[in-house]
Amino acid sequence: MSSRLTVLDFPRFKAEKRPIVCVTAYDYTFAGLLDDAGVDLLLVGDSLGNVIQGHETTLPVTLDDMIYHTKAVVRGSRRAFVACDLPFGFCHRSAGIVLEASIRVLKETGAQAVKVEGGEAVVDAIRALTELQIPVLAHVGLTPQAVHAFGGFKVQGRGEAADKVLADAVAVERAGAFAVVLEGIPSPLAEKISKRLTIPTIGIGAGPGCDGQVLVVYDLLGLYDGFKPRFVKRYLEGGALIRQAVAQFADEVRSRRFPDEGHGFNE
Ligand code: KIV
Repeated sequence: MSSRLTVLDFPRFKAEKRPIVCVTAYDYTFAGLLDDAGVDLLLVGDSLGNVIQGHETTLPVTLDDMIYHTKAVVRGSRRAFVACDLPFGFCHRSAGIVLEASIRVLKETGAQAVKVEGGEAVVDAIRALTELQIPVLAHVGLTPQAVHAFGGFKVQGRGEAADKVLADAVAVERAGAFAVVLEGIPSPLAEKISKRLTIPTIGIGAGPGCDGQVLVVYDLLGLYDGFKPRFVKRYLEGGALIRQAVAQFADEVRSRRFPDEGHGFNE
């Protein structure tokens, strides 16, 4: 058995007030780097629809896409807990379909949990999964799979709508989720939810009052220019560094400075 974090570590982190570090990952190499850096939870998010596949929304992502990327992330990591997003459409269907999809995820990829977007509307799916011992990471607030219902990527839970997000968070905890992502909601609301729930909250665009934080790795490293939400902090200007490195390679190839003697075989 590997020495990965398990579903039991997350409530312990909350009890110890130790913030949970979560980053998205989509491939073997990044998974290894993030794991080495000490990330607790690698989320194979359906945000791969944006940053890997170039779609405007996450809706076109398929279960096969998620399984393909999750396999690579599990192979690349050793310590982090790995969760895989269930793509759009599954939790709106029968419990049987959700279970079948989640069983495929756990069986074929080695991931330890599935992530499910939605609150009260998906509690039957969460209950069906957790009753069959499939750990669920829930996700409420600005759930990107509901982009059309929200009329765009808009902050949720402002004013009177706060009660709805709170009710969603309470509902997913009661249904058995082991943790919940709070996305795109006002910071005071996220703090209130984090205090109210016994399970950990992992925030993205939800302020500092959550029990952990998650960022999309391409945003964190400055690799994705498609859309830069205000809550993103770039820890590297990776895009600029890559352009500079590849331009230097191109220049050296054109000027015949690469390869030099040291980068070849004499015999
Ligand atoms: O798909 C994703 O990457 C996510 C995170 C941003 C929470 O859902």
